[in-house]
Amino acid sequence: MAADPTIPFDPESLFEMARRQVDHARAPYSRFRVGAALWSDSQIFAGCNVENASYGLTICAERGAVMNWAAAGSPGVPQAIAIVAQDEAGQWVQAMPCGACRQVLSELPGSSDLQVWIGNPQQGESVPLSELLPRAFGPEHLSVRED
Ligand code: THU
Repeated sequence: MAADPTIPFDPESLFEMARRQVDHARAPYSRFRVGAALWSDSQIFAGCNVENASYGLTICAERGAVMNWAAAGSPGVPQAIAIVAQDEAGQWVQAMPCGACRQVLSELPGSSDLQVWIGNPQQGESVPLSELLPRAFGPEHLSVRED
């Protein structure tokens, strides 16, 4: 049976999945471990940061989650993404999505309504992506119609 896209997401389970991803992070250089979980089509798509000795090749957790969603066939319209991080000492710290991730998130379907949950697994708040990246560069500037 197809998943019901009307099922509202539960921030707690989204944060829980993001938290688990922190344990999967590959961050030997920064030791800043990030987990992200994207809610779409009543499913959760997770990601963690994966660093590289060629530092610029590092992939952030948020983009990992987006890739997992795409690899599953881009189901549904993403409603929310939760992002959590731990510093080198293992303390929960707030991670705001970087500019590159905001840009990637902005090209998801329905991105103007995407809720970005930040904070730690105990205490999160949500900010609309449109507030984090107003007046984004997008396909309309290339005269490209979205699929
Ligand atoms: N990082 C993320 O995974 N997401 C963000 O939005 C901010 C930064 C990662 C990249 C790098 O592995 C580490 O955090 C320190 O910048």
